[in-house]
Amino acid sequence: MIASKNPGLLYEQVADKIAGQIEAGTLRPGDRVPSVRRASQQHRVSVTTAVQAYLALENRGLIEARPKSGFYVRSRPLRDVLEPGRSSPCRATRADSSSELLGRVFEAVNRPGIVPLGAACPSPELLPVQKLNRTLAVMTRSAGTKGIEYDMPPGALPLRRQVARRSPDWGVTLAPDDIVTTSGSMEALTLCLRAVTKPGDPVAIESPTYFGIVQLIESLGLKAIEIPTHPRTGMDLDALDRTLAARRIAACLAIPNFNNPLGSLMPESHQQRLVEMLARREIPLIEDDIYGELHFGPKRPRVAKSFDKQGLVLLCSSFSKTIAPGYRVGWTAPGRFLEKVRNLKFTSTLATATLPQLAIAEFVANGGYDHHLRAIRRTFAEQVQRVSEAVAESFPPGIRITRPAGGFVIWIELPRGLDSLDLHARAMAEEISIAPGPMFSPGGGFGNFIRLSCGYPWSPRIERAIGILGSLTKRLG
Ligand SMILES: Cc1ncc(COP(=O)(O)O)c(C=O)c1O
Repeated sequence: MIASKNPGLLYEQVADKIAGQIEAGTLRPGDRVPSVRRASQQHRVSVTTAVQAYLALENRGLIEARPKSGFYVRSRPLRDVLEPGRSSPCRATRADSSSELLGRVFEAVNRPGIVPLGAACPSPELLPVQKLNRTLAVMTRSAGTKGIEYDMPPGALPLRRQVARRSPDWGVTLAPDDIVTTSGSMEALTLCLRAVTKPGDPVAIESPTYFGIVQLIESLGLKAIEIPTHPRTGMDLDALDRTLAARRIAACLAIPNFNNPLGSLMPESHQQRLVEMLARREIPLIEDDIYGELHFGPKRPRVAKSFDKQGLVLLCSSFSKTIAPGYRVGWTAPGRFLEKVRNLKFTSTLATATLPQLAIAEFVANGGYDHHLRAIRRTFAEQVQRVSEAVAESFPPGIRITRPAGGFVIWIELPRGLDSLDLHARAMAEEISIAPGPMFSPGGGFGNFIRLSCGYPWSPRIERAIGILGSLTKRLG
């Protein structure tokens, strides 16, 4: 048992008793421990003493708080698993191009029967499908002919108004006229990159980063410059600073809030440093905040744009990870590049589909969005925990797992030399999809990493699939 520091203190005595229950298996990993009030009654101590006891148990690594849900017994295996270290981008030679690899991995995504640990999609059963359908039906009736007309850039005013109303929650005050709506975040990123670069330009990105960004940079004829990352705090700003001093960078594209695949959260002081460092050199920052609302901690993190004094930050997001990926509704607030982005939108997709924008605007306005977010944040936090614990239990010793602060993916470092593309092929033969590490780097690095999505509710099927992945990894290692 992990011993108390001050065995004489009352709260430590309570903590020792609960630690004993964990040791004896009365309370098992993943169990909710009694509420603080209940513990105070059970152990005949004040609520304050019970709170101190729980904090002591948290410090000993035995229990953990989950937002709005209470305290839970931490899993033993996860306690012994380290996080990956700072990343070091490298070039790997690969037989196929990154788009061929992507095609192979995602050809399986919608295949029935596949265990969906590959794509970072929220499970439809966790999304407010019926409420959204009803809202869409109401909007279809009330919009009349407007619903079938082009909604020319900058896009639906009711949606831009709702996004602007939420923006103070992220530390920035946007006006509806600062925003252009888009077909998902992917189009927002595309328009912003096109607005601030020309083919051949070097663009600094996190390593690893979302493979859609890797593909986008390649397809626009840009040159990706990979910047190392820390699994908790994201882009290594000292490394970025050295890169900026050594060479020309035309733009930086980052996911400060819950990077995909790391789940890292860039601290506010780092966000400010990043914005200022780039502004000194007049370099635009494209900020992808698609996971910003999916925080596990109590506070919605700020966006880097909240530190932007010169209009150099182009903020992008969408509703794909929170309510409806298929609606294809996103937006950007591109600062001083607004006019350019708006004009590019005309030549890109002309307009965003009208009715999905109006339905989402209404869903946000009537409080449905916030209500849903509160539930889904807790669900994702729990699913990330369950999947991480199962991985820690089934995979060989020595693997490393990230501890995401939000979102719903985990990034796993497998034993050195293990080929995640090989693991992917073998997993597919077992009808399990995973995302192999090389997809997340233009240089094809991260050969012994995989990303697992925790977007689906925990189930015996997922548990079994993780067990199979663990056995395959042991066999390949
Ligand atoms: C970081 C990041 N940005 C953008 C996207 C694409 O978003 P959308 O579906 O809104 O185009 C994804 C999807 O996985 C993502 O993870």
